[in-house]
Amino acid sequence: MRQLFIIATAFFWLLLLGFATTDLWLPAEVEAPLPVADSKAYALSEVARHNSSDDCWMAINGEVYDLSSYLPDHPSPPEVILAWCGREASEAYRSKMKERAHSARADRLLAEYRIAALGP
Ligand code: HEM
Repeated sequence: MRQLFIIATAFFWLLLLGFATTDLWLPAEVEAPLPVADSKAYALSEVARHNSSDDCWMAINGEVYDLSSYLPDHPSPPEVILAWCGREASEAYRSKMKERAHSARADRLLAEYRIAALGP
């Protein structure tokens, strides 16, 4: 009986030691690689080729947007936004050219027109 008690106790402590040291003997968890959703990128020189009212790309905050179909819906006079087709327009978008930020709704709308990242 006493022997059984000693064996059970030893087993218990061994088990506990095993749990406490899992870092040492279990393989480290392998981190899942981040999904590469979209690796497409366009350089500013490519953006510059799309500079008309029916083919209008803009680079805004490191992303490239094809805004061709949105232009007629933009609430400002057309020339205000047309002037930025084919260009780096982060500052124009940030300030509306009069130190007024676009709304969160505008930000959500913008996201719908993203086509790629801005590449080197
Ligand atoms: C990059 C050049 C742009 C300029 C200079 C510009 C400028 C303006 C101006 C002057 C207005 C009207 C006056 C005002 O609300 O203060 C306006 C409103 C607005 N713009 Fe733009 N805009 C630009 C790009 C864009 C883009 C790319 C989007 C979205 C795809 C957008 C979405 C809106 C919306 C939704 C409004 C209504 C007001 C608001 O929600 O902020 N704009 N913008």
